Formats: sequence, structure tokens, C-alpha cells
Amino acid sequence: MNHFIAPSVLAADFANLQRDIEMVNGSAADWFHVDIMDGVFVPNISFGFPVVEAIRKHAGKPLDVHLMITDPDRYIGAFAKAGASVITVHYEACTHLHRTLAAIKEMGCKAGVALNPHTPVHVLEDIIEDADLVLIMSVNPGFGGQKFIQRTYDKLKALKAMAAGRNDNLLIEVDGGVNISNAGQLISCGANVLVAGNFVFTADDPKAVISEMKEVMPGLMKA
Ligand code: DX5
Ligand code: ZN
Repeated sequence: MNHFIAPSVLAADFANLQRDIEMVNGSAADWFHVDIMDGVFVPNISFGFPVVEAIRKHAGKPLDVHLMITDPDRYIGAFAKAGASVITVHYEACTHLHRTLAAIKEMGCKAGVALNPHTPVHVLEDIIEDADLVLIMSVNPGFGGQKFIQRTYDKLKALKAMAAGRNDNLLIEVDGGVNISNAGQLISCGANVLVAGNFVFTADDPKAVISEMKEVMPGLMKA
């Protein structure tokens, strides 16, 4: 599969949200990455349902909703109704992850599970067939614009090896500090969905940056 690009709306200009959404609509991006933070699971609060619904109203591409919230089961139905196509919960926030992933699928969404930087990939050993997507956090969740954690490359390789022959269609997403310099190496290590917030939205020409990320070939890091 060709890799997907998912610009993170967290880095958009919220006073010009419609303009920024239309930029993404008209770009080579595949999804809108939508970060939900509750101020408990992560030390920051982002936005809630009215904003997700407003994004949905203008977005011409699927919403990839990343729930950085405790007890996400309470809100799965509401995010599905608000227009999510993918709902990703954190492994660290779920007591009954198998049940949670099934509940997401029951709502007609793709089910994702995210791992914090400190959480090893092997915790997914008994659930890898049940996820549509695994999100490897390459920064500690909570804020955009943080520095990429190098250890992520090895985690991606471990995840890819685990999924081989068991879930070959698994979407492997990487989120945090992604840019044109590390995109090629991330893809060669197994990532097939790249989230990018600040790198896209602070660019002089965001559409050109998205195209460049979309066209990047697997390979080594750019200097
Ligand atoms: C971080 C969020 C990310 C964030 C990425 O907690 O999950 O999706 O928006 O932003 P950048 O690409 O700026 O690191
Ligand atoms: Zn995210």
C-alpha cells in the first residue's frame, strides 16, 4: 500500500479552521488527524464534540480521531456519531482493550490502539489480529511540536514483524515530530500512515509539504 498522510488539525489556526480544512481537502493528504485530549490522560486539553462536528462539516476526507482520554469507552458512540472514520484509543487507558476495539468496530469505524513511548510493542501480542490500526507515539502525547524519539524506528520494526502473517493489512501510524527528514526511514521501518502537525501547518506552502511527504520513498534519513 502507498502510505497515507494525516495532517494533525491540532496545529491548524483555529480562528481560520475552515480555511485550513479546505487547504487539506485540496492537498494530497489522505486523512484529517484529530487529537482529543482530556487534561487527565495527558496534561493538556484540546477540543471536544462541537469542534469535531465543525471539522466534519467541511472535511472532504476521513477523520482519524486519536483519543488521548481516560476511559474512552464512554465516548466511542459519540465520536462515531460526530463523524469519525477511525477511532484510536490508548493501550494505557483501556482495562478491556479487546472489548473496546470490538465496540469501535460495532460503530462502523476502524479500530486503532496507540502506544506511548514507554509502552513496548509486545503488549499487543494477543490482540494484533483485532486492531485495524496501531499508532506508535514518537513523542509523549499531549502537545504538538515536540522532538521525535529515535527509539520509534525499532518499535515500528518490531510491530511490523509481529503483524506479518497475522494482520498483513494492519495500518501502522506514527505520530509526533514527523517531518520530511524522517518520513523515508519511518516508511522503511514499517509505517504506512504519517501524522504531521507543525511540519505541515507552519510551512509557507503546506500543500507542497504534504505532496512532498506523500511522494517520499522508503529510505534513509535526509541530512
Ligand atoms: C501529540 C498529538 C499529535 C500532534 C503531532 O500528542 O497526538 O498528533 O498533533 O504534532 P507534531 O507533528 O507537531 O509533533
Ligand atoms: Zn495524535
